[in-house]
Amino acid sequence: MTSHSHVHAPAHHDHDHSHEAGDFDWDALAAHLEREAEIQAPAVTEATRWLRGLASGAPVGRVLDVGSGPGVIAGLLADAFPDAEVVAVDQSAALLERARTRSGGRVGVRQADLPGDFGTLGAADLIWSGNAIHHLGDQQAALTALAGTLRPGGLLAVAERGLPVRFLPRDLGLGRPGLQARLDAAHEEVFAAMRADIPGSVATVEDWPAMLAEAGLVLAGSRTFLVDHPAPLDLPARAYLHVQLSRRRDQLGGLLDAGDLAVLDALLDREAPAGILTRPDAFYLAAVTVHAAARPAEVAR
Ligand SMILES: C[S@@+](CC[C@H](N)C(=O)[O-])C[C@H]1O[C@@H](n2cnc3c(N)ncnc32)[C@H](O)[C@@H]1O
Repeated sequence: MTSHSHVHAPAHHDHDHSHEAGDFDWDALAAHLEREAEIQAPAVTEATRWLRGLASGAPVGRVLDVGSGPGVIAGLLADAFPDAEVVAVDQSAALLERARTRSGGRVGVRQADLPGDFGTLGAADLIWSGNAIHHLGDQQAALTALAGTLRPGGLLAVAERGLPVRFLPRDLGLGRPGLQARLDAAHEEVFAAMRADIPGSVATVEDWPAMLAEAGLVLAGSRTFLVDHPAPLDLPARAYLHVQLSRRRDQLGGLLDAGDLAVLDALLDREAPAGILTRPDAFYLAAVTVHAAARPAEVAR
């Protein structure tokens, strides 16, 4: 999650926890989300240290990662807050099972179909939510519900947007320069359609600090953490980009011209020297923005 991957699992809006969409490839999604989170881990680790500093003084006994996916980031939260109970919260039992096993039991899991299940999460001193609020129809209502889950003095940290990932030179020696900007523009169309399709979707100005304030919280700050892996990339990062490009080709095919589609095919060619799996100039550069805000401590009378 990054927000820029927008890997979409099947929507579960029917509050039926007894099954998951049958033919969906959860293992592939889990592996992709895990790789993405691992690539971003150094930046997220910095973010967790910032949050630890913000929380200093107040005991952090329970931490939620809301929309955790397969739990890489929940594990980083457990590293940063070793004395806390850390719980990964997601609608997907399959992703939560990955979170449980990869953490060796360090991270608890709780299946929740949001927004319906917000009331079941239990009180927390720190709530992290990365690239998940944008899957909910009413983003302001989601923040307000999370704010209500915080103990007095607790922190809510929302990682949404930042900057889209860049991984290729402007002129990559294939097709018209500027491919990544066009992919990003097409992706914005798909993202907007995804949001419009969510039941109960509410358009809102996505001013995250203002939305946190509207939820009754006191802003602690917004910080951006760079994810900077210069070329040459290691194989796991290349494999991630290969999957990401093929997902983009499927998602955006109708929005791209024939020239750009041909370049995507060339980048996806597993054997070609210009393919993403082999080319020496592929890098990974992104920025993760985290907005943090605190629930006011109760005033003693
Ligand atoms: C893009 S992933 C982000 C994963 C992780 N937070 C990260 O940043 O790597 C979005 C996650 O939100 C979960 N999610 C989406 N809609 C949800 C809902 N209505 N209730 C609970 N979880 C949801 C998905 O199952 C998925 O794991």
